[in-house]
Amino acid sequence: MSTDLDKLHAILQNATSEIEGAQNFHDLNNLKSHFIGKKSELNDFMKILGSLPPQEKPAFGKKINDVKVAIENLLQIAEVRINSSIYEQTLKSAMFDHSMPGRTFAKGSLHPITIIQQKIEDVLIDMGFQVTDGPDVEDEFHNFDALNTPKDHPARNLADTFYVENDVLLRTQTSTVQVRVMENYKPPIKIISPGRCYRNDKFDATHSPVFHQVEGLVVDEGISFRDLHDTINDFVKRMFGDDCRSRFRPHFFPFTEPSAEVDISCFACGGKGCPTCKNSGWIEIAGAGMVDPNVFDILGIDKEKYTGFAFGFGIDRMTMLILHVPDIRMLYDNLVVTE
Ligand code: DAH
Repeated sequence: MSTDLDKLHAILQNATSEIEGAQNFHDLNNLKSHFIGKKSELNDFMKILGSLPPQEKPAFGKKINDVKVAIENLLQIAEVRINSSIYEQTLKSAMFDHSMPGRTFAKGSLHPITIIQQKIEDVLIDMGFQVTDGPDVEDEFHNFDALNTPKDHPARNLADTFYVENDVLLRTQTSTVQVRVMENYKPPIKIISPGRCYRNDKFDATHSPVFHQVEGLVVDEGISFRDLHDTINDFVKRMFGDDCRSRFRPHFFPFTEPSAEVDISCFACGGKGCPTCKNSGWIEIAGAGMVDPNVFDILGIDKEKYTGFAFGFGIDRMTMLILHVPDIRMLYDNLVVTE
C-alpha cells in the first residue's frame, strides 16, 4: 500500500514537471492522455482498487482521485499559459503592429426628422393623444373618397399622386389614418398618427416626393372650433415655448368645414420679421379644421351626436425651421455636410 502511495506521488511529481514544461497544445494533449487517459498508469490504479480490502478502498480511491484532479488543474493552468504566450507572440510578430492607430468608427445618431417627430409625439402624448399607425400603401377610398374628395379633384391626377395599380396608391397625406380610426373605433377618439407621405413632386429646395406629416383627430360630443384652437395653441407653446402664438387663416380642405391654415409666430425673431419667416413674422405649420359632416356620414358616425376636429402638421418643414436646414434635399440625400 505504501509503495502504491509512493507511486501515486511519483506520478503527480512527474506530471507536474512535464506539464509545466509543455510549450504547445500538441504536447499538452499527449501529456493529458499519458497521465489521465484510458491507458495511463493512474487508470491502472483504478483496477488495483478493486482488489483492495473493503476498509481500504475509500481512502485509496480518494487518493487516486486527488491526484487526477491535481493533474487536471495543472493541465488547465498550462492551457492558459500557452494561450497567452501565443497571444504575446502574435503581438510581437510583424503581422500585428499594435503601434498603429485604431480605426475610428463614425457614431450613429437619430435622423433629424426622427428627432423632431419624437418631440412632437411626446408633446401630444402629454396632451392625452394616443399614437396610431396606418399603411403607406393605401387605396383611393382611404386617401380620397372617405375624405370627401371629389372624383375630379386635381390631387387625384397621376401628376400629383403615385399610383401603384388601379385604385392602389402611395398615401399623399396621413389623413388616411383618420379614416381607418373612424372605421374601427367609436368616439370618443383622440389620436395622432405620424408617418411618411408621397407626392409626385420633383425635388427642389422645399419639395420632396417623400415627406412626413403628423395627423391629429378628436371626435366626441360637443367638440368645437374653440377646442381646436386651444389644442393647437397649447401644442405650439409646449413645442416652441410660452412666447409662441398661433393664428388661423381661412382655407379649404375637402374633409374639414370650416378649414384653416395654422401659422405660428416666428420662433427665430419672435414675430419681428427675419429670413426664417421671410420677414412676415409668421410661419405656416399646419392645416386644420372641423371634421366635415359628410366624412362622418361616409364612415357611419352620427353627425347629430358627434363633432370633431382634425389637424395635419408637416414634420419636414418643422425640422428645417427648428434645425436651420436650408434645403429639404439635405434631409434625404446622403450628403456629408462638413461645416
Ligand atoms: N392632409 C392635409 C394635407 O396634406 C393636411 C390637413 C389639413 C390635415 C386639414 C388635416 C386637416 O387633418 O384637418 O395638406
